[in-house]
Parts: sequence; structure tokens; C-alpha cells
Amino acid sequence: MHTVTLMPQGVEVLLSAGSSLVELEFELYGQESIPFGCKVGACGACVIQVLDGANHLGSKGDDERDFLEFLGYAGDTFRLACQCSVNGAVTIKAALSRN
Ligand code: FES
Repeated sequence: MHTVTLMPQGVEVLLSAGSSLVELEFELYGQESIPFGCKVGACGACVIQVLDGANHLGSKGDDERDFLEFLGYAGDTFRLACQCSVNGAVTIKAALSRN
């Protein structure tokens, strides 16, 4: 199990190795979480900033990198949460706020 810390709330969720960050939607049902949409890397709703542990989220594919750059999120700290699998402790925050 690996700890995913969601900021700014500081909520910690344990996910099994290899789990998708999409699991956060179920683990945090009814609570503030990542705003998932399509869950296939096509809508951009789930952009996150990785504050710590970026190397624990698998590699960023060319399609994900290109789409993030198209959305204006260049740089290694931004990911599409729906395209990330957890392989170690990470600290993340949603780039898009619902507020
Ligand atoms: S939920 Fe649509 S890109 Fe991740």
C-alpha cells in the first residue's frame, strides 16, 4: 500500500501498488477530491500538480505530455491523474479548483 496525500486538505489515502489515482474518487466519495471527468486522458478535468513523489506515478506518455502542453501545463510537475498509477508515496493537488 502507498500513501497518496491530497493537498491542500492534507487527506491521506492508502492505495495498493499499481492502483490508478482514479481510485481516489471512490476512496473519497462525497469529499473534496480530484475532479475526474472522462478518465481516459481526453478532457483535462483531472490535471494535478505533483508536489512530491513524481517518480512514483509511472512515466508520462507522449499523448499525456502533448495534451498537458496544449492545456498550458508544461513541465514535469503536472500530470493527468487518470493516467497515473501509484508505485510509491505521492503528494498531489488538483490544478483546477471547483471553487
Ligand atoms: S478525467 Fe479526463 S483527462 Fe483525466
